[in-house]
Formats: sequence, structure tokens, C-alpha cells
Amino acid sequence: MSHYQETYDRWQRDPDAFWRTVAKGIDWIVPPERIFDPDSGPYGRWFPDAVCNTCYNCIDRHVEGGRADQAALIYDSPMTGRQQRYSFAEFKEEVVALAAVLRDLGVEKGDRVIIYMPMVPQAVFAMLACARIGAIHSVVFGGFASRELATRIDDARPKAVIFASCGLEPGRVVAYKPLIDNAIEMADHKPEHCIVLQREEQPCTTVAGRDIDYAQAVAAAKNADVEVDCVPVAATDPLYILYTSGTTGQPKGVVRDNGGHMVMLHWSMWNEYGARPGEVFWAASDVGWVVGHSYIVYAPLLAGCATVLFEGKPVGTPDAGTFWRVIADHKVAALFTAPTAFRAIKGQDPRGEHIGRYDLSSLRTLFLAGERADPETLKWAEEKLGVPVIDHWWQTETGAPISQNPVGLGMLPVKHGSPGVPMPGYDIRILDDSGAEMARGGLGNVVIRLPLPPGCLPTLWNADERFREAYLAEFPDHYKTADAGYVDEDGYLFIMARTDDIINVAGHRLSTGGMEEVVAEHPDVAECAVIGVADELKGQVPYGFVVLNAGVARPGREIEREVVALVREKIGPVAAFKTVVTVKRLPKTRSGKILRGTMQKIADRHSWTSPATIDDPAILDEIAAALNERETGT
Ligand code: COA
Ligand code: AMP
Repeated sequence: MSHYQETYDRWQRDPDAFWRTVAKGIDWIVPPERIFDPDSGPYGRWFPDAVCNTCYNCIDRHVEGGRADQAALIYDSPMTGRQQRYSFAEFKEEVVALAAVLRDLGVEKGDRVIIYMPMVPQAVFAMLACARIGAIHSVVFGGFASRELATRIDDARPKAVIFASCGLEPGRVVAYKPLIDNAIEMADHKPEHCIVLQREEQPCTTVAGRDIDYAQAVAAAKNADVEVDCVPVAATDPLYILYTSGTTGQPKGVVRDNGGHMVMLHWSMWNEYGARPGEVFWAASDVGWVVGHSYIVYAPLLAGCATVLFEGKPVGTPDAGTFWRVIADHKVAALFTAPTAFRAIKGQDPRGEHIGRYDLSSLRTLFLAGERADPETLKWAEEKLGVPVIDHWWQTETGAPISQNPVGLGMLPVKHGSPGVPMPGYDIRILDDSGAEMARGGLGNVVIRLPLPPGCLPTLWNADERFREAYLAEFPDHYKTADAGYVDEDGYLFIMARTDDIINVAGHRLSTGGMEEVVAEHPDVAECAVIGVADELKGQVPYGFVVLNAGVARPGREIEREVVALVREKIGPVAAFKTVVTVKRLPKTRSGKILRGTMQKIADRHSWTSPATIDDPAILDEIAAALNERETGT
């Protein structure tokens, strides 16, 4: 028997009463009197008069409430062969010491701190230390290069940066120091301090007067036995900024507040994920992504769970059995990852032979998100693991699931290919391009009727207008998800594609527009288009099409290699940009718009027709021939 419908109806009947009750799950310094203020911010603000501290709710209240010796953080790193467990008490000691270091550097409530770290415990300590003193963290994923970092530094204007000397990728050490140095040099804003975590795999040199050694500073703070109280912040104060791909090279600074975020995440752990305090929750993602923020760090800790921090890959570290080894070693109750990880495992171990080698009896549920879960992979996981596999849909902007099969409220029948039903807080509508609501089953723009629920972004960092323009302008009174999909006769949602130029590569959200900006910087490139092409492992990968300047005599292949290197250098390896095809012309409409959609169909080998508005239909055949030539090597 599922309580889903009754819970959703209760929310819809009286949202204020619903969130007032849910908010009781949090320890407030000043509890909310008002639940929602429709008059502030671009669409309103949650818990406008409440005061709280997120770090207190993640750590201190568990230490005080009897969980001091329970595991809070389990670091498991097949990359280094290390494992380490931190109890809530030990975790607190680490966070307090780092908070003291930041405080002594003059970092105060409202100051920004950029964190550029791989999957090491210190990345989590850094996030919580910021939260403790009311500073706003902004974590940058390690796979982004200097220019992406510089853009974020200029937008967030951090007082301090915390970084590690290196990250570890299979077969490769990624030195972070040169990336940080370049980024700071490129940026107009100069952070006052850098705190450097020296990893023994590759320590780095430090800059005198700027860099502070993480280990030494934290050890000194611990020796001095310093205390750092949790600083009271308004529920509406930002906890973090997380940059995500927009439609240009300028990423969007998604703001997360303290109060609404805690309320939503805490509620989600039991009701949506069915995870109880004391259990082990594992999100195999990265702290640089929203899944890492919400379900490696904040939600499990808010709920009093132990969270696993995994520094490795689903395959190759050392093999396709590594996920099962982690589940068995740490008695993981719930695993959350991206479908691409399962496609990688299935590709290497199609019969699931590694699975039988481990005791997976602790595992109750597998959650998949970040990209569309193809039914074949989903069924494979269900069959091999013998547990429910939950596809759920969300975005960096929402910070928690928009739709799901809510395990804690009671499972609904599973429909393969659907990420479930709307969660309380989300009134989902499907609109056509003119804004009219579509009949059930009709494919259209998936939008959310305002207000967005607690935990969703209240705005973009220092950019209310951009927020309105990007999300609210096209469909008044609604938030545009930029996903296309439909709702079936049973109320299940199906998410089919993005309506903008965002692509999803191995569960990573990337902007083809941003890549085009970089490709266009190559001096020999006259024009370009980047599209997402279907890929068996990564879901999609970017393909670049370039038209060279007249008179360029160098071989096209040489320039193509340079373009690939340029994107890797400017955006980073995570762009997975490896294919460039030189063409004579790009297909355009008569008004000059590049026909990317048709190019994508050609590349995906889907049937395509020449749009009526095309300038010269012969160009599409040229594109098909160029792709064919590239792929067959003829
Ligand atoms: N720091 C530096 N480089 C990184 C990086 C990081 N944190 N993460 C990835 N990269 C690099 C990779 O080494 C790779 O470099 P290469 O071109 O030299 O090989 C490149 O970025 C592309 O990475 P990725 O797309 O992840 O491909 P992959 O072949 O290394 O791995 C998977 C493929 C499927 C195993 C991997 O993408 C994966 O585990 N995905 C899970 C997805 C996930 O966690 N999503 C988060 C949302 S839930
Ligand atoms: P991100 O902001 O990186 O979480 O990416 C959000 C986008 O990923 C969404 O807008 C969707 O396009 C896609 N996405 C995430 N989860 C799913 C899912 N379960 N099914 C289909 N698409 C998804």
C-alpha cells in the first residue's frame, strides 16, 4: 500500500500546512513562523523568518543526539587503496578545525569559498566548514580546466580557495596546482588565500604569501583545541553556489538556500529514498555535481546516515565488480548512480559474474538519475541485483527529485522508461510552444507551476534577471525545465529530450553552445556547430562540425586535432570532445539558423527530411557523406 497519492493530495490541498509539518524535521535556531513569502525573490522565498545552521543539523545534532560514535563518512578509494571511516564525533573535529582556519583567515558569513578538490574527505569537510561559519561554498568539478575555473572565480568572487595538489584518474595524475594558478591569473578577481591539501601521490609547490598548508593549519587548530560555534544564518541565506551549464559559455550560478534545502533533503531521505538513520547511503557521483552535493553530502548527513565517498570508477578500478565490493564492505543499503555507470559495468560483465562474488544482502534499492535510463540497462540491473531499480528525474536547479517512484512512501508499480510520478511540491504540466496545456499523452514542454518547492534554486547568483529570462519568461507562472516529455494516463512522467542545447555526456551536463564558443576561437575555423550524438556508453557525446577559413592550406585532420585539444584545454577533459568533422558548409535555414536538429538526426542515423526552410538541401547530403567518411575511415 503506497501513501504516495494521499501525501501528494495533502500537499496540494494545503502546501503551507504540509511544509510546516515537514519543517519540524529540522532543528531551527528560530523556527519558521511564515512558511512562504510570495513577494520576495523572483518567485517567492521559503521560511523567510527562520534562522538555522546547516552544519549543526548535519553534524552537531547527531553528536549530541547519541550518534557520536556512529560512522558519518566512509572514504573508499580504489585509486589509492585507502579506506577511512569518520564517526560523527571525528567528523565534527575535522570540520571545526577547518572552520577555525577559515575564520582566522577572515572568512565570514556571506563570503564565498571555492573548493576544487577530488573525491577526498577533505572536500566534504570543506563544504561543512563553510556551512558552519555561514560562508558560501562553490565546488568546482575536477574535470573542468582553468578557464572554467576562472569564470567561476570571477562570478563568485571568493575570498579563499581550497584545493588539492592533484586528482587521480585511471592511469593519469591530474595536477590541480597549474590549473588553479592559471585560473587565478586569468581571472580579474584575486582570492586572498588558498588552502592546499598536499596529496602524497603528487604534492605541489606553494605560492608564498598566498598558499596555506591544509594539514598543518588543521593540525594547529586541533592542537589549540579551538571551538567554532555554528553561525546563525537566515533560512534564505545561500548555503552554496553550484555552477551548471547554460546555453552559453557563461555558466549559471545556481543558488541553494539553507532552510528550504535542509527541509526538502531531510524529508526526501525517508519518503523518497526509504533510508533510515544509521544506514549506509552511497551516491556514486562526484562532489562537483549536484548529486554529490545533495546525496553524498547533505541529505545523508541531515538524516543521520553514513555516507560513502568513493574515489574510483565503476569499471577499471580495478574491475567491473568494484561497486559490489563497496556495497559488501560497507553494508550499503541504497546505491545512487547514473545509468552510464551501469552501462559501463554491463559492457564489461554482461552476465553479471562479479555480482555473485559478493554479499549484497544489505542492498535494498538502486537509484538512477542524471540522464534517461534506457529500459534495457534498467532491466539488466533489476534482474542481476534482484532489488527495485528506481529511475528518478531531477536537475541541478531543483537539488532533489522532481519525479520518482517514492520508495519510503511505498512503491508504485514500476514503468520502465518513466522516472515516476511528481513528488509533493511539484505541480507538473505539459505545455505546447504557445503555452497551452496539452492533452494527456501529448509530448511537449515539461514545466512546473510556480512556486518551486523548498530546496529549489531561489535565483541565480547575482543574476535575478537572467533567472527570470532563462526559466520564467517563456511560460508565465511556470518554471521551464527545458526538458520535453509527456504524462501518461496513469500520471507517470516520461522525459524524452532537452529543448535547449544542453547535452548529457556520461551523466555530466554540458553545453554545446559553450563548446561552439571555444571551437570558434581556433584561427582557422570560419564557422562551427557542435551537436550531441547518441553513444552506447555515455548516452551522448559531442561532435563538432567545422568550416575552415578560405585559403587554409593545412590538412583538415591537423586542424581537427587542434580543435579537440583546444576544447580539452579550455573546458576540460570532462567535455569528452573527441570528434571533429570538417565540412564545406553548414546547413542553414534561409534566415541563417544552423539546422542542428537535422544534423543530429543524420549523425544518429535516424530518418530525416529536409526542412522546408532550408537554404540549400544539398548541404545535408554533404554532412551525411562527411560523417560516413569519418566513421568508415574512407
Ligand atoms: N578530474 C579530472 N578529469 C576527469 C574527472 C575529474 N574529476 N572526471 C573525469 N575526468 C576525465 C576522464 O579521465 C576522461 O579523460 P580522458 O579523455 O583522458 O579519458 C574525461 O574526463 C571524460 O570522462 P568521462 O566522461 O567520465 O569518461 P570515462 O571514460 O573516464 O568514464 C564512465 C566513463 C561511464 C565510467 C564514467 O563517466 C562514470 O563513472 N560515470 C558516472 C557518472 C556520474 O557519476 N555522474 C554524476 C551524476 S549522477
Ligand atoms: P543536471 O542538472 O546535471 O542534473 O542535469 C539535468 C538534466 O539531466 C535534466 O534536465 C534532464 O535532461 C536530464 N535528466 C536527469 N535525470 C533524468 C532522468 N531520470 N531521466 C531523463 N533525463 C534525466
